[in-house]
Amino acid sequence: MEKSIVDKPDVYKLVEAPHDQDVERIVSKLIHEKLTQKHLEMIDRYDQQTYDHCLRVCMGCIEMGCYLRLAEDELERLARAALLHDVGKCHISHDIIAKPGRYTPEERREMQAHAVESYKILLEDFPTEARIAGAHHWAQKDGYGVPPDEATRFYSDILSVVDKYDALVSKRYYKNEFSEEKTESIIREESTVDPELKERILRRFEELLKKT
Ligand SMILES: [Fe+2]
Ligand SMILES: [Fe+2]
Repeated sequence: MEKSIVDKPDVYKLVEAPHDQDVERIVSKLIHEKLTQKHLEMIDRYDQQTYDHCLRVCMGCIEMGCYLRLAEDELERLARAALLHDVGKCHISHDIIAKPGRYTPEERREMQAHAVESYKILLEDFPTEARIAGAHHWAQKDGYGVPPDEATRFYSDILSVVDKYDALVSKRYYKNEFSEEKTESIIREESTVDPELKERILRRFEELLKKT
C-alpha cells in the first residue's frame, strides 16, 4: 500500500535551518487533515519538485505570517493555501512541467492555466484557500490566474512573494538557482505587491538567511 504523506520522512527535512515551533506545529497539523492530505498526495504523486516547492513555500509563508503577526486562523489558512497552491499543475501534462527549455506560446498558456485549476480543485473543500491559491501569480510579472479579492488579497500577496522567491532561488526544470541578490532585485522590480509589504518580506528573508 502506498505510504501516506504523514509517513513520508522528507516532510520536514526540506528546511535546512532549524525551523521554529510555529512552522513545525502548523505543518504537522495540516498534514494530518484528511482533505489537505488528499490534495497534497496528488501533488506528491504528480511531481517531486513541485511537492518540495509547495512545502518550502508553505514553511516560508508560516515564517512570514508569524513575522506579520497574523492570528492563528489566518496563519493556518495562508499555510494551507501555500501548501496546495500549485495543485492545479497536476492537470497539466508532466512533459510540459518537466520541460528543460523555453515554453512555446501554447505550452506557456497551458502552464499558466494551473492557477485557475488550483482554484477550481480547492474550491469545494477550501473556498478561502482556493481564492488565495488562485491569485498566487496575480501580482507577479505577466500576472495570471484568479484576480484577488479584498478579503484575501493580503494573503495572496504574501504567497505571491514567497512563491516567487522560492521559484527563483531553487533549481527548476527550466533554470538553475538564482542568487539571493538577483532574486530580491527581480522581485523588487517585477512584483506588484504593495511595496511596503514586499520590503518587509524581503528583509525577513535576509534575516532568516543570516541565521542559517
Ligand atoms: Fe504557481
Ligand atoms: Fe508555486
